[in-house]
Amino acid sequence: MAKVISIINYKGGVGKTTLTSNLAAELAWNGLKVLIIDLDPQTNLTFSFLRVDDWEKNYQNKTIKKWFDAYIDNDQDFNLGDIIITPERVNARLKQSKSDGKIDLISSHLGLINVDLELSAKLWGGSDRTNRRNFLKVHSRFKEGLQQLEDQGVIYDVVLIDCPPNFNVVTKTAIIASDTLLVPAKSDYLSTIGIEQLDKNVKELVQEYNEKTKYDELNNEFEEVNPVFEGVIFTMVGIRYGVPYQAQQQFISTVKRLNIPVLETIIRENKTIYADAPQAGVPVVLEEVRSETYENVRGELEALAEEVMNRVGI
Ligand SMILES: Nc1ncnc2c1ncn2[C@@H]1O[C@H](COP(=O)(O)OP(=O)(O)OP(=O)(O)O)[C@@H](O)[C@H]1O
Ligand SMILES: [Mg+2]
Repeated sequence: MAKVISIINYKGGVGKTTLTSNLAAELAWNGLKVLIIDLDPQTNLTFSFLRVDDWEKNYQNKTIKKWFDAYIDNDQDFNLGDIIITPERVNARLKQSKSDGKIDLISSHLGLINVDLELSAKLWGGSDRTNRRNFLKVHSRFKEGLQQLEDQGVIYDVVLIDCPPNFNVVTKTAIIASDTLLVPAKSDYLSTIGIEQLDKNVKELVQEYNEKTKYDELNNEFEEVNPVFEGVIFTMVGIRYGVPYQAQQQFISTVKRLNIPVLETIIRENKTIYADAPQAGVPVVLEEVRSETYENVRGELEALAEEVMNRVGI
C-alpha cells in the first residue's frame, strides 16, 4: 500500500504547494513512483506542472472536481484512475536520473469550491443512523478511491496530497485518507498559534470518525484511521551566517516546547529562486544549480526528502 502523505495547514501561503512539488520531485528522482493530488481550487500545484493552455485543452474535464461530482451524482463507474495525468516536463527531467522514478498528477479545478458545499449538504438531514453512515461515507471517500486504484493494479510508492488552506470537507477527506500529515509553517507568532489549533482539530476529526465506526449497524464496514501528525516543517526562514534569525528561532523553539513534533530540516526564504520555478514545470530541487545559493536551497530540499523518507519509512 502506498504511503499517503497530506501536506496541510489551513493557514494560507506557508509553502504547502512548493513543498509538495519539490518533495514529489526529489522522491521520484530517488526512484519512487509518486502520485501528487491537487486538492486546492486555486490549482497552484496543477499549474506548477502543466501549462494552462494544455490543461484547458486536454484535461479540464479530468480533474478531482469531476471525480467528486461523480460521487455526488452517484456515478459509480468513474474512478481516480480516469483522471491521472503524467506531466511531460518534469518526467522528461526525471528520465535523466539513473532510476526509474515517476510523477503522476491529479489536477484540480476552480469549481472544487462548490464540491465542498455539496458534500456538506450530504452530511445532514437524516436520522442519527443515516447521518452517521453519511458522515463515514463522505469522509472516507478519498481513502476508498485510493484503495480502489490499488485494487485495479495502479501502484504508487507515495501519494502526496496538497491541501487547500481551509478545513472544509474535502480537506477532511484527505486527512482521513492519510498515513502521515506534514505541516509547513512560517516561524512567526500567529503561525505558532495556528499549529496548535490544527493539531487539535485533526485529533477531534479523527476521534469523531473512529467513534462512529464502532456502531453496530455498520457491520465493520469502516475501519478506524490513525493519521500521524509527523511534524511541522518551518519554511521561508530567514537565514544569516547559516542560522535562522533569532526571532524566528524563538518561535521554532516555542513550537517544540508545546510538544509538537518539528522536522529537523528548515527551508530558507529565497523569493527569487522559488518564484520562478513553477513556470518551467520542473521544481527547484531538479533545476540546474546556477549558484551557491541555488546549491543551498537544493541541499535543503534534498535533506527534507531524505528526512521524510526516513521518518515515514519509505
Ligand atoms: N522558501 C521560500 N522562500 C521564498 N518564497 C517561497 C518559499 N516557498 C514558497 N515561496 C513562495 O511563497 C508563495 C506561497 O507559497 P505556496 O504557494 O507554496 O504556499 P501555499 O501554502 O501552498 O499557499 P496556499 O495556502 O495559497 O495554497 C509562492 O509565491 C511561493 O513561490
Ligand atoms: Mg497551495
